[in-house]
Amino acid sequence: RYQEVPKYNDAFPVVKAEVNKCKVFGVWGDGFFKRKNSCRKKIEPFMKTTIQRLKKELQDIQSDPPAYCSAGPVDGDMLHWNANIIGPKECPYQDGVFYLDIHFTTEYPFKPPKINFLTKVYHPNIDSSGNICLDILKDKWSPALTISKILLSICSLLNEPNPDDPLMPDIAKEYSENRGLYEDNAKTWTQVYAFR
Ligand code: CO
Repeated sequence: RYQEVPKYNDAFPVVKAEVNKCKVFGVWGDGFFKRKNSCRKKIEPFMKTTIQRLKKELQDIQSDPPAYCSAGPVDGDMLHWNANIIGPKECPYQDGVFYLDIHFTTEYPFKPPKINFLTKVYHPNIDSSGNICLDILKDKWSPALTISKILLSICSLLNEPNPDDPLMPDIAKEYSENRGLYEDNAKTWTQVYAFR
């Protein structure tokens, strides 16, 4: 039932990413050589630490896989991962398999990754495009967090919605005012979209 974790491959297009990063940071210099060198110097350390950190996280996840999830890079691109989490027990998402898309930038772990649900979820804090409203992915982000910890937090969010900070106001209202109806709807969506 778990998604197979793809293997990391060293063919990651570092050079292309370097060039893009230079444009973003606006470090283009005067002469061609200077420009090329300044890009190398400024960008390579960023890319290297990010990739090293992500490789370490991947190793940790593979050697000691968490019970509730799996995660790994897509097509050897260390900045683009897919993950899945299993709906926690005793909640309407129980045993559903929920797929997630994860995009890192070279600023990781100093900036949070962008995470989206690929599986439709009926939840006050997850919108119809799969965006997640979770504080640790925004202002409460810390470089000490890892993908493993983020996925655990997303599991907790499934278990305990936060209706005070909703992305889906109608579902939040239903959660607060008619818990039984919310649970039925969430269960139905889980059966339709997360069991296949
Ligand atoms: Co993607």
